Amino acid sequence: MNKRFISALMIILTGVVFLTVGVLTAADIPDEIVINEKGYKQDKKGPVKFMHKEHYEDHKLTCTECHHVYKDGKNVWKQGDPVHKCGECHDPLKKDGKVVTLKNAFHKNCKTCHKELVKSGKSTKAPYKKCTKCHEKKS
Ligand code: HEC
Ligand code: HEC
Ligand code: HEC
Ligand code: HEC
Repeated sequence: MNKRFISALMIILTGVVFLTVGVLTAADIPDEIVINEKGYKQDKKGPVKFMHKEHYEDHKLTCTECHHVYKDGKNVWKQGDPVHKCGECHDPLKKDGKVVTLKNAFHKNCKTCHKELVKSGKSTKAPYKKCTKCHEKKS
């Protein structure tokens, strides 16, 4: 076998390996998430069905709009790093400096973006006012 053929083969094989890894990783990212945390003082509102994939695929949001790990005030999380649940850092009961409570973490993340989209005219239906656009009715 000549060298050129071997290097072409190596390139193809490397591509296959990367593709496989890519597919495996994608499978670990949930398409849809029902957010229903425990530990609040009161559980006043119903669960929130969140179309995860629609947000990063159809709405083309980068992961770091929502996922973060701060170091010296900067978000150092990057795609491929392990994803921690919001509740691992945001406590449902108490805030710790800039680390807001869990409810506020969700509300600030979800509603702030939606509100900006509507105010800037980029969307007419991104929900931020009506509770039932996100929260299911409590049974
Ligand atoms: C853009 C989506 C969105 C909208 C709109 C929204 N919320 Fe939420 N809210 C969430 C998410 C996500 C959580 C976290 C859910 C959980 O942990 O169960 C949450 C949690 C909460 C919680 C704490 C959990 C609980 O069940 O007690 C309360 C209280 C709450 N929201 C009240 C409201 C009220 C009142 C409104 C309307 C004025 C509202 N929310 C509108 C997304 C939203
Ligand atoms: C619009 C906000 C948003 C965007 C954009 C987003 N995510 Fe998420 N993601 C969430 C929320 C909210 C959860 C649920 C976290 C929880 O349950 O505490 C989640 C959960 C996950 C989980 C599951 C974590 C677990 O242990 O259950 C993975 C993996 C993940 N996201 C990866 C990604 C990747 C990779 C991207 C970019 C391609 C991305 N996310 C983009 C908001 C987002
Ligand atoms: C590894 C710990 C960690 C995880 C996991 C985490 N956060 Fe945070 N979050 C922080 C810290 C620390 C800050 C304060 C950052 C700063 O110094 O400004 C913060 C700040 C925020 C803020 C800004 C608050 C404000 O006042 O503007 C929002 C919103 C937020 N987080 C939402 C989320 C959501 C939603 C998730 C899950 C998808 C999440 N966080 C997961 C640690 C975390
Ligand atoms: C960085 C921006 C951003 C963040 C953060 C974000 N969203 Fe959205 N969301 C969007 C966009 C863009 C749309 C599409 C609006 C449209 O179609 O006009 C949307 C639409 C929605 C819709 C309406 C779906 C439909 O088509 O009827 C729901 C419900 C929703 N988001 C829930 C959430 C929840 C819950 C969170 C927080 C966990 C969240 N979003 C965080 C950008 C965001």
